[in-house]
Amino acid sequence: MAQARAALLFSVVHMLGCEGAATGKEEILPPATNDRPIVGILSQEQSFYLHSKYPEENYTSYIAASYVKDVEASGARVVPILIGKPRSYYEELLKKLNGVLLPGGATYFNQSNGYADAGQYIYEIAMKMNDAGDYFPIFGTCLGFELLIILASGRGEPENRIRCYSYSNMPLDFTPDFRNSKMFAEAPDELVDILANEEVTVNAHQFCIVDKNLNAFNLTKDWQVTSYSDDDFDVQFIATIEHTRYPFYGVQFHPEKNSFEWKLSKKYPHSYSAIKANRYFMDFFVNECRRNVHTFANAAEENKYAIYNYEAKFTGVLGSQHHECYFFEPRGLKN
Ligand SMILES: *[C@@H]1O[C@H](CO)[C@@H](O)[C@H](O)[C@H]1NC(C)=O
Ligand SMILES: *[C@@H]1O[C@H](CO)[C@@H](O)[C@H](O)[C@H]1NC(C)=O
Ligand SMILES: *[C@@H]1O[C@H](CO)[C@@H](O)[C@H](O)[C@H]1NC(C)=O
Repeated sequence: MAQARAALLFSVVHMLGCEGAATGKEEILPPATNDRPIVGILSQEQSFYLHSKYPEENYTSYIAASYVKDVEASGARVVPILIGKPRSYYEELLKKLNGVLLPGGATYFNQSNGYADAGQYIYEIAMKMNDAGDYFPIFGTCLGFELLIILASGRGEPENRIRCYSYSNMPLDFTPDFRNSKMFAEAPDELVDILANEEVTVNAHQFCIVDKNLNAFNLTKDWQVTSYSDDDFDVQFIATIEHTRYPFYGVQFHPEKNSFEWKLSKKYPHSYSAIKANRYFMDFFVNECRRNVHTFANAAEENKYAIYNYEAKFTGVLGSQHHECYFFEPRGLKN
């Protein structure tokens, strides 16, 4: 634990050092003092499946409600972040938010004005904020995790991820130094034991980030792998990762599904231990967001952006893998 703190101290000092602004004072992490955190969740292109259920509305984008609930359950409020906006929209919004969640899903990174372009703005703006000493966390889940690594790789072609296949509930194979990380330094032993020994993390992905992806772009200094899992054909992929200087985190599995997704055929683990262990990830991330002190100008402005302006639709009953979804910017006649 002391070792982990020392490493954190080192990385923060190192970060300040890059800016030539190291003060030499005992500045560790900013304290988690913001007890009214507001987290932005990035929407993504409407899926073909969901479009087929709401053809007349022709929504531009959606967010699976499980991500919203997972963040809310950890004590934060949610603002949806729309896709297809100019950089200035993301710049203005991030000044008011305390962190951003990049959710999983299925969309191409090469579509313009979509999830990947918005994610790139967010990533660049957040790096700039952190470089200026304004602690701004990002958490990427599944596709969001892959996006973080692809952005760190320069978003070239071919994309820096491999094809793989995992639709299994898996344990995490922690690296020897996983405790020497921000994500797991303070994780309760009881939860680490569950994650290490029980099949409680939900995988649903056909791409993976593997060690060779990090090596190919010299990312091993900037990104610390803290655990792996094996895909359905025994390919070892990175399951959890974090940036060594920025508060950027990624998980390949879906911690939001255990509590909030219920499609029977998916066999999501809903046991007490699965719920407890997976709650840890948003609890950790929202606490990171408490270290950021951005605010909206006032309650009225906050209300204008809040997710409460939208109503989740019961998409599970229509056959979607998501039990509820939020939809944005209808382009059709209906609405
Ligand atoms: C949905 O809206 C987009 C953008 O305006 C348009 O290109 C597309 O044709 C619309 N689709 C349907 C089915 O109306
Ligand atoms: C985007 O990527 C997908 C999958 O890699 C590919 O099939 C598609 O042709 C690409 N589209 C463009 C416009 O490059
Ligand atoms: C990685 O680092 C090596 C050695 O410094 C360098 O030759 C190579 O071009 C770098 N690769 C990338 C993708 O940055």
